Amino acid sequence: MNFSRRELMKTVGAGALALGAGQNMTAASSGGVMGVPPDFSVVRSEFPRAAKHLWLAAAETHPFSVHTLRALEEYSQYRALGALGRDGFTPAEQAETKQMFGALINASAEEIAFVLSTTDGENLVVSGLDLAGLGGNVVIDDLHFAASRYLYTALAEAGHIDLRVVQHRDWQIDVADMERAIDSNTRLVSMALVSNINGYMHNVRAISDIAHANGAYVYADIIQAAGNTPVDVQAMGIDCCACSTYKWLMGDFGLGFLYVKRDLQGDVIKQTRYGLRQVTQKDGHFVPRPGAAIYEGTTTMPYLPAVCAHQGLKYLARLGVRNIRTHTKRLVDRLQTEMPGLGYPSITPLDTPTPVVSFLTADPDVTRAKLDRAFGQRVVSPGQWQMTDSSGKTQSVRGIRIGVSVYNNDTDIDAFLNALD
Ligand SMILES: Cc1ncc(COP(=O)(O)O)c(C=O)c1O
Repeated sequence: MNFSRRELMKTVGAGALALGAGQNMTAASSGGVMGVPPDFSVVRSEFPRAAKHLWLAAAETHPFSVHTLRALEEYSQYRALGALGRDGFTPAEQAETKQMFGALINASAEEIAFVLSTTDGENLVVSGLDLAGLGGNVVIDDLHFAASRYLYTALAEAGHIDLRVVQHRDWQIDVADMERAIDSNTRLVSMALVSNINGYMHNVRAISDIAHANGAYVYADIIQAAGNTPVDVQAMGIDCCACSTYKWLMGDFGLGFLYVKRDLQGDVIKQTRYGLRQVTQKDGHFVPRPGAAIYEGTTTMPYLPAVCAHQGLKYLARLGVRNIRTHTKRLVDRLQTEMPGLGYPSITPLDTPTPVVSFLTADPDVTRAKLDRAFGQRVVSPGQWQMTDSSGKTQSVRGIRIGVSVYNNDTDIDAFLNALD
Protein backbone atom coordinates (compact mmCIF):
# COMPACT_ATOMS: atom_id res chain seq x y z
CA MET A 1 0.00 0.00 0.00
CA ASN A 2 1.40 3.41 -0.95
CA PHE A 3 1.24 6.56 1.08
CA SER A 4 -0.92 9.28 -0.41
CA ARG A 5 0.53 12.75 0.06
CA ARG A 6 -2.28 13.49 2.52
CA GLU A 7 -1.49 10.41 4.53
CA LEU A 8 2.19 11.27 4.47
CA MET A 9 1.59 14.76 5.80
CA LYS A 10 -0.73 13.39 8.47
CA THR A 11 2.07 11.06 9.53
CA VAL A 12 4.63 13.85 9.54
CA GLY A 13 2.20 15.97 11.52
CA ALA A 14 1.68 13.20 14.03
CA GLY A 15 5.41 12.83 14.44
CA ALA A 16 5.73 16.56 14.84
CA LEU A 17 2.96 16.57 17.43
CA ALA A 18 4.82 13.97 19.41
CA LEU A 19 7.79 16.32 19.56
CA GLY A 20 8.35 18.18 22.78
CA ALA A 21 8.25 22.00 22.74
CA GLY A 22 9.99 22.61 19.44
CA GLN A 23 12.72 20.07 20.16
CA ASN A 24 13.14 16.91 18.14
CA MET A 25 12.38 14.93 21.24
CA THR A 26 9.72 12.33 21.72
CA ALA A 27 8.50 10.49 24.76
CA ALA A 28 10.14 7.39 23.32
CA SER A 29 13.44 8.79 22.36
CA SER A 30 13.98 10.96 25.41
CA GLY A 31 14.34 7.74 27.41
CA GLY A 32 17.78 7.04 25.97
CA VAL A 33 19.01 10.40 27.20
CA MET A 34 17.65 10.08 30.72
CA GLY A 35 19.21 6.66 31.18
CA VAL A 36 15.76 5.05 31.10
CA PRO A 37 15.37 2.61 28.19
CA PRO A 38 13.27 4.09 25.38
CA ASP A 39 9.75 2.81 24.82
CA PHE A 40 10.27 0.86 21.63
CA SER A 41 6.54 0.68 20.89
CA VAL A 42 6.59 4.47 20.50
CA VAL A 43 9.80 4.20 18.47
CA ARG A 44 7.92 1.83 16.13
CA SER A 45 5.16 4.41 15.68
CA GLU A 46 7.80 6.89 14.51
CA PHE A 47 8.63 4.62 11.55
CA PRO A 48 5.29 4.53 9.72
CA ARG A 49 6.53 1.96 7.24
CA ALA A 50 6.90 -0.59 10.06
CA ALA A 51 3.15 -0.75 10.68
CA LYS A 52 2.43 -1.09 6.94
CA HIS A 53 4.89 -3.74 5.88
CA LEU A 54 7.25 -6.15 7.51
CA TRP A 55 10.83 -5.05 6.86
CA LEU A 56 13.53 -7.30 8.26
CA ALA A 57 16.17 -5.95 5.91
CA ALA A 58 17.64 -2.87 7.59
CA ALA A 59 21.03 -4.33 6.66
CA GLU A 60 20.02 -3.30 3.12
CA THR A 61 18.37 0.09 3.68
CA HIS A 62 16.73 1.63 6.73
CA PRO A 63 13.30 3.28 6.61
CA PHE A 64 13.05 7.01 7.40
CA SER A 65 11.52 8.17 10.67
CA VAL A 66 8.79 10.79 10.82
CA HIS A 67 11.46 13.27 11.96
CA THR A 68 13.40 12.71 8.76
CA LEU A 69 10.21 13.08 6.72
CA ARG A 70 9.48 16.39 8.38
CA ALA A 71 13.04 17.69 7.88
CA LEU A 72 12.92 16.64 4.23
CA GLU A 73 9.61 18.41 3.81
CA GLU A 74 11.06 21.61 5.30
CA TYR A 75 14.14 21.39 3.13
CA SER A 76 12.07 20.73 0.00
CA GLN A 77 9.82 23.68 0.78
CA TYR A 78 12.88 25.87 1.17
CA ARG A 79 14.25 24.70 -2.20
CA ALA A 80 10.87 25.01 -3.92
CA LEU A 81 9.50 28.11 -2.26
CA GLY A 82 12.33 29.78 -0.37
CA ALA A 83 11.57 31.23 3.04
CA LEU A 84 10.83 29.30 6.23
CA GLY A 85 14.05 30.55 7.75
CA ARG A 86 16.05 27.69 6.27
CA ASP A 87 19.35 28.10 4.55
CA GLY A 88 20.27 24.87 2.82
CA PHE A 89 22.13 22.50 5.11
CA THR A 90 23.91 25.06 7.25
CA PRO A 91 27.56 25.03 8.39
CA ALA A 92 26.26 24.59 11.95
CA GLU A 93 24.25 21.52 10.91
CA GLN A 94 27.28 20.17 9.02
CA ALA A 95 29.45 20.61 12.10
CA GLU A 96 26.83 19.01 14.34
CA THR A 97 26.48 16.05 11.96
CA LYS A 98 30.22 15.38 12.07
CA GLN A 99 30.27 15.83 15.80
CA MET A 100 27.41 13.34 16.28
CA PHE A 101 28.98 10.77 13.99
CA GLY A 102 32.31 11.27 15.78
CA ALA A 103 30.61 10.73 19.13
CA LEU A 104 29.04 7.53 17.81
CA ILE A 105 32.46 6.00 17.09
CA ASN A 106 34.52 7.82 19.77
CA ALA A 107 36.31 10.17 17.36
CA SER A 108 36.53 13.95 17.21
CA ALA A 109 34.73 15.99 14.56
CA GLU A 110 38.11 16.93 13.04
CA GLU A 111 38.77 13.26 12.32
CA ILE A 112 35.64 13.01 10.18
CA ALA A 113 35.22 13.90 6.49
CA PHE A 114 32.02 13.84 4.47
CA VAL A 115 32.42 11.42 1.56
CA LEU A 116 30.03 9.88 -0.93
CA SER A 117 29.91 6.36 0.42
CA THR A 118 31.78 3.56 2.14
CA THR A 119 33.52 2.61 -1.08
CA ASP A 120 34.46 6.23 -1.75
CA GLY A 121 36.03 6.37 1.73
CA GLU A 122 38.03 3.18 1.24
CA ASN A 123 39.26 4.40 -2.15
CA LEU A 124 40.46 7.62 -0.49
CA VAL A 125 42.41 5.59 2.06
CA VAL A 126 43.94 3.37 -0.61
CA SER A 127 45.00 6.29 -2.79
CA GLY A 128 46.05 8.39 0.23
CA LEU A 129 48.34 5.60 1.42
CA ASP A 130 49.64 5.28 -2.13
CA LEU A 131 49.22 1.52 -1.91
CA ALA A 132 49.89 1.20 -5.62
CA GLY A 133 53.24 2.97 -5.23
CA LEU A 134 54.27 1.32 -1.95
CA GLY A 135 53.85 -2.26 -3.06
CA GLY A 136 53.84 -4.87 -0.30
CA ASN A 137 50.75 -6.83 0.63
CA VAL A 138 47.19 -6.15 1.73
CA VAL A 139 45.33 -8.59 3.98
CA ILE A 140 41.58 -8.98 3.76
CA ASP A 141 39.21 -11.87 4.51
CA ASP A 142 36.47 -13.58 2.59
CA LEU A 143 33.69 -12.10 4.76
CA HIS A 144 34.60 -8.64 3.40
CA PHE A 145 32.26 -6.62 1.18
CA ALA A 146 32.39 -7.35 -2.56
CA ALA A 147 33.43 -3.79 -3.53
CA SER A 148 36.48 -4.05 -1.27
CA ARG A 149 37.38 -7.46 -2.65
CA TYR A 150 37.10 -5.97 -6.13
CA LEU A 151 39.26 -2.95 -5.22
CA TYR A 152 42.17 -5.04 -3.91
CA THR A 153 41.80 -7.69 -6.60
CA ALA A 154 42.11 -4.96 -9.23
CA LEU A 155 45.26 -3.59 -7.55
CA ALA A 156 46.69 -7.09 -7.32
CA GLU A 157 45.89 -7.88 -10.95
CA ALA A 158 47.61 -4.67 -12.00
CA GLY A 159 50.69 -5.91 -10.13
CA HIS A 160 50.59 -3.13 -7.49
CA ILE A 161 50.06 -5.26 -4.39
CA ASP A 162 50.14 -8.84 -3.22
CA LEU A 163 46.62 -9.67 -2.00
CA ARG A 164 46.13 -12.14 0.83
CA VAL A 165 42.58 -13.31 1.45
CA VAL A 166 42.03 -15.12 4.74
CA GLN A 167 39.21 -17.65 4.54
CA HIS A 168 36.57 -18.00 7.20
CA ARG A 169 36.22 -21.12 9.33
CA ASP A 170 32.71 -21.79 10.57
CA TRP A 171 31.67 -18.37 9.30
CA GLN A 172 34.16 -16.52 11.45
CA ILE A 173 37.69 -15.25 11.00
CA ASP A 174 40.30 -16.88 13.17
CA VAL A 175 42.78 -14.34 14.55
CA ALA A 176 45.54 -16.95 14.20
CA ASP A 177 44.84 -17.11 10.44
CA MET A 178 45.10 -13.33 10.23
CA GLU A 179 48.35 -13.47 12.17
CA ARG A 180 49.77 -15.96 9.67
CA ALA A 181 48.80 -13.69 6.76
CA ILE A 182 50.14 -10.41 8.20
CA ASP A 183 53.87 -9.73 8.04
CA SER A 184 56.30 -6.84 7.90
CA ASN A 185 55.40 -6.26 4.23
CA THR A 186 51.74 -5.78 5.06
CA ARG A 187 50.68 -2.19 4.37
CA LEU A 188 46.99 -2.45 5.13
CA VAL A 189 44.57 -4.82 6.80
CA SER A 190 41.07 -4.12 5.55
CA MET A 191 37.93 -5.71 6.96
CA ALA A 192 34.20 -5.24 7.21
CA LEU A 193 33.99 -4.75 10.97
CA VAL A 194 30.57 -6.40 10.74
CA SER A 195 30.21 -8.61 7.71
CA ASN A 196 27.33 -7.97 5.33
CA ILE A 197 27.27 -11.73 4.70
CA ASN A 198 26.35 -12.97 8.16
CA GLY A 199 26.74 -10.12 10.67
CA TYR A 200 29.98 -11.63 11.99
CA MET A 201 31.93 -9.02 13.97
CA HIS A 202 35.71 -9.26 13.88
CA ASN A 203 37.89 -9.47 16.93
CA VAL A 204 39.27 -6.20 15.64
CA ARG A 205 41.43 -5.25 18.61
CA ALA A 206 43.43 -8.48 18.39
CA ILE A 207 43.85 -8.03 14.63
CA SER A 208 44.82 -4.36 14.87
CA ASP A 209 47.45 -5.20 17.52
CA ILE A 210 49.01 -7.71 15.09
CA ALA A 211 48.78 -5.24 12.18
CA HIS A 212 50.36 -2.41 14.17
CA ALA A 213 53.14 -4.65 15.47
CA ASN A 214 54.00 -5.26 11.80
CA GLY A 215 53.80 -1.57 10.82
CA ALA A 216 50.50 -1.99 8.92
CA TYR A 217 47.39 0.17 9.16
CA VAL A 218 43.83 -0.99 9.76
CA TYR A 219 40.83 0.08 7.71
CA ALA A 220 37.33 -0.97 8.78
CA ASP A 221 34.17 -0.78 6.73
CA ILE A 222 31.67 0.01 9.48
CA ILE A 223 28.45 0.35 7.50
CA GLN A 224 26.89 -2.75 9.11
CA ALA A 225 27.92 -1.63 12.59
CA ALA A 226 27.52 2.14 12.92
CA GLY A 227 24.19 2.87 14.58
CA ASN A 228 23.37 -0.67 15.67
CA THR A 229 26.39 -1.88 17.66
CA PRO A 230 28.81 0.06 19.85
CA VAL A 231 31.91 1.09 17.85
CA ASP A 232 34.93 2.67 19.53
CA VAL A 233 37.70 3.34 17.03
CA GLN A 234 40.20 4.09 19.77
CA ALA A 235 39.55 0.99 21.87
CA MET A 236 39.37 -1.14 18.71
CA GLY A 237 42.63 0.21 17.27
CA ILE A 238 41.00 1.24 14.00
CA ASP A 239 43.12 3.72 12.01
CA CYS A 240 40.50 4.68 9.46
CA CYS A 241 36.98 3.61 8.66
CA ALA A 242 34.06 4.61 6.49
CA CYS A 243 30.36 4.07 6.00
CA SER A 244 27.41 5.32 4.02
CA THR A 245 24.38 6.68 5.85
CA TYR A 246 21.55 4.72 4.19
CA LYS A 247 21.57 1.70 6.51
CA TRP A 248 21.70 1.86 10.32
CA LEU A 249 22.28 5.62 10.35
CA MET A 250 18.73 5.89 8.95
CA GLY A 251 19.71 8.24 6.11
CA ASP A 252 19.91 7.99 2.35
CA PHE A 253 22.28 7.24 -0.54
CA GLY A 254 24.91 9.80 -1.55
CA LEU A 255 26.52 10.69 1.77
CA GLY A 256 28.98 8.82 3.92
CA PHE A 257 31.63 9.45 6.55
CA LEU A 258 35.35 8.77 6.51
CA TYR A 259 37.25 8.67 9.80
CA VAL A 260 41.02 9.12 9.69
CA LYS A 261 42.92 9.06 12.95
CA ARG A 262 44.40 12.50 13.63
CA ASP A 263 48.10 11.40 13.58
CA LEU A 264 47.72 9.81 10.15
CA GLN A 265 46.09 12.76 8.41
CA GLY A 266 48.25 14.28 5.69
CA ASP A 267 51.56 12.49 6.26
CA VAL A 268 50.45 8.86 6.16
CA ILE A 269 47.08 9.10 4.42
CA LYS A 270 47.72 11.92 2.02
CA GLN A 271 45.40 14.37 0.34
CA THR A 272 44.80 13.12 -3.19
CA ARG A 273 42.14 15.48 -4.50
CA TYR A 274 41.44 19.16 -4.30
CA GLY A 275 38.19 21.05 -3.87
CA LEU A 276 36.81 24.08 -2.16
CA ARG A 277 35.29 22.13 0.73
CA GLN A 278 38.85 21.70 1.97
CA VAL A 279 39.71 25.39 2.34
CA THR A 280 38.43 28.80 3.26
CA GLN A 281 39.51 31.82 1.24
CA LYS A 282 40.99 34.91 2.83
CA ASP A 283 42.46 37.92 0.99
CA GLY A 284 42.97 35.86 -2.13
CA HIS A 285 44.64 33.00 -0.26
CA PHE A 286 43.44 29.47 0.38
CA VAL A 287 43.49 28.60 4.06
CA PRO A 288 43.20 24.85 4.78
CA ARG A 289 40.27 23.85 6.94
CA PRO A 290 41.46 21.77 9.86
CA GLY A 291 41.55 18.02 10.14
CA ALA A 292 40.00 15.45 7.85
CA ALA A 293 38.53 18.16 5.59
CA ILE A 294 41.47 17.42 3.25
CA TYR A 295 39.65 14.23 2.21
CA GLU A 296 36.38 15.93 1.32
CA GLY A 297 34.89 16.06 -2.14
CA THR A 298 35.29 18.36 -5.05
CA THR A 299 31.87 19.98 -4.99
CA THR A 300 29.21 21.16 -2.57
CA MET A 301 28.12 18.29 -0.35
CA PRO A 302 24.77 16.63 -1.14
CA TYR A 303 22.29 18.38 1.15
CA LEU A 304 19.31 16.02 0.83
CA PRO A 305 21.05 12.92 2.23
CA ALA A 306 22.77 15.22 4.72
CA VAL A 307 19.39 16.33 6.07
CA CYS A 308 18.48 12.65 6.50
CA ALA A 309 21.79 11.75 8.17
CA HIS A 310 21.50 14.71 10.54
CA GLN A 311 18.07 13.54 11.67
CA GLY A 312 19.14 9.90 11.83
CA LEU A 313 22.14 10.67 14.01
CA LYS A 314 20.07 12.85 16.34
CA TYR A 315 17.58 10.05 16.72
CA LEU A 316 20.31 7.48 17.39
CA ALA A 317 21.90 9.73 19.98
CA ARG A 318 18.60 9.99 21.81
CA LEU A 319 17.90 6.26 21.73
CA GLY A 320 21.44 5.24 22.64
CA VAL A 321 23.19 2.46 20.71
CA ARG A 322 23.36 0.21 23.78
CA ASN A 323 19.58 0.45 24.22
CA ILE A 324 19.16 -0.32 20.53
CA ARG A 325 21.40 -3.34 20.85
CA THR A 326 19.46 -4.64 23.86
CA HIS A 327 16.21 -4.30 21.92
CA THR A 328 17.44 -6.03 18.78
CA LYS A 329 19.38 -8.75 20.59
CA ARG A 330 16.24 -10.27 22.07
CA LEU A 331 14.60 -10.44 18.64
CA VAL A 332 17.72 -11.84 16.98
CA ASP A 333 18.05 -14.43 19.74
CA ARG A 334 14.52 -15.59 18.95
CA LEU A 335 15.47 -16.07 15.30
CA GLN A 336 18.66 -17.89 16.24
CA THR A 337 16.67 -20.22 18.49
CA GLU A 338 13.70 -20.88 16.22
CA MET A 339 14.96 -20.81 12.63
CA PRO A 340 17.13 -23.98 12.73
CA GLY A 341 14.07 -25.97 13.87
CA LEU A 342 12.21 -24.75 10.78
CA GLY A 343 14.98 -26.07 8.53
CA TYR A 344 17.11 -22.92 8.29
CA PRO A 345 20.59 -23.46 9.78
CA SER A 346 22.26 -20.30 11.00
CA ILE A 347 25.57 -19.15 9.56
CA THR A 348 25.92 -16.39 12.17
CA PRO A 349 27.92 -17.31 15.27
CA LEU A 350 25.61 -17.28 18.30
CA ASP A 351 27.72 -14.81 20.26
CA THR A 352 27.75 -12.25 17.42
CA PRO A 353 26.95 -8.86 18.97
CA THR A 354 25.10 -7.44 15.95
CA PRO A 355 21.51 -7.41 14.64
CA VAL A 356 22.46 -8.99 11.32
CA VAL A 357 21.84 -12.73 11.12
CA SER A 358 21.82 -15.12 8.15
CA PHE A 359 20.37 -18.56 7.52
CA LEU A 360 20.88 -21.12 4.78
CA THR A 361 17.88 -22.04 2.64
CA ALA A 362 17.64 -25.60 1.30
CA ASP A 363 15.20 -24.48 -1.39
CA PRO A 364 15.33 -20.69 -1.91
CA ASP A 365 12.35 -20.72 -4.31
CA VAL A 366 10.10 -22.41 -1.77
CA THR A 367 11.22 -19.98 0.93
CA ARG A 368 10.58 -17.01 -1.31
CA ALA A 369 7.15 -18.35 -2.28
CA LYS A 370 6.17 -18.75 1.38
CA LEU A 371 7.29 -15.22 2.21
CA ASP A 372 5.64 -13.74 -0.88
CA ARG A 373 2.38 -15.50 -0.01
CA ALA A 374 2.46 -14.15 3.54
CA PHE A 375 3.66 -10.62 2.86
CA GLY A 376 3.14 -9.90 -0.82
CA GLN A 377 6.57 -8.34 -1.10
CA ARG A 378 10.18 -8.95 -0.20
CA VAL A 379 10.85 -8.72 3.55
CA VAL A 380 14.41 -10.08 3.93
CA SER A 381 17.57 -10.03 1.79
CA PRO A 382 18.29 -13.10 -0.33
CA GLY A 383 21.95 -14.05 -0.49
CA GLN A 384 24.39 -16.27 -2.32
CA TRP A 385 27.65 -16.79 -0.50
CA GLN A 386 30.87 -18.79 -0.70
CA MET A 387 31.17 -21.28 2.14
CA THR A 388 34.58 -22.67 3.08
CA ASP A 389 34.72 -26.15 4.59
CA SER A 390 37.33 -27.42 7.04
CA SER A 391 39.65 -28.55 4.23
CA GLY A 392 39.60 -25.03 2.72
CA LYS A 393 37.31 -25.95 -0.21
CA THR A 394 34.64 -23.42 -1.11
CA GLN A 395 31.15 -23.94 -2.45
CA SER A 396 28.26 -21.60 -3.26
CA VAL A 397 25.39 -21.60 -0.81
CA ARG A 398 22.14 -19.67 -0.76
CA GLY A 399 20.26 -18.16 2.11
CA ILE A 400 18.49 -15.21 3.61
CA ARG A 401 19.91 -12.34 5.65
CA ILE A 402 17.86 -10.62 8.30
CA GLY A 403 18.61 -7.18 9.73
CA VAL A 404 16.56 -6.32 12.83
CA SER A 405 16.17 -2.69 13.80
CA VAL A 406 14.54 -0.37 16.33
CA TYR A 407 11.07 -0.49 14.75
CA ASN A 408 10.83 -4.32 14.72
CA ASN A 409 8.99 -6.14 17.49
CA ASP A 410 7.84 -9.61 18.55
CA THR A 411 4.79 -9.39 16.28
CA ASP A 412 7.16 -9.04 13.30
CA ILE A 413 9.19 -12.04 14.37
CA ASP A 414 6.01 -14.10 15.00
CA ALA A 415 4.64 -13.21 11.55
CA PHE A 416 7.94 -14.09 9.89
CA LEU A 417 8.35 -17.42 11.70
CA ASN A 418 4.72 -18.35 11.04
CA ALA A 419 5.17 -17.66 7.36
CA LEU A 420 8.09 -20.11 7.20
CA ASP A 421 6.46 -22.76 9.36
C1 LIG B 1 29.67 -4.31 4.43
C2 LIG B 1 29.19 -3.35 3.39
N1 LIG B 1 30.05 -2.44 2.92
C3 LIG B 1 29.68 -1.52 2.01
C4 LIG B 1 28.38 -1.49 1.53
C5 LIG B 1 27.93 -0.46 0.57
O1 LIG B 1 28.93 0.35 0.12
P1 LIG B 1 28.63 1.84 -0.36
O2 LIG B 1 28.43 2.65 0.87
O3 LIG B 1 29.86 2.18 -1.11
O4 LIG B 1 27.39 1.83 -1.18
C6 LIG B 1 27.47 -2.44 1.96
C7 LIG B 1 26.10 -2.45 1.38
O5 LIG B 1 25.39 -3.41 1.35
C8 LIG B 1 27.87 -3.37 2.93
O6 LIG B 1 27.00 -4.26 3.42
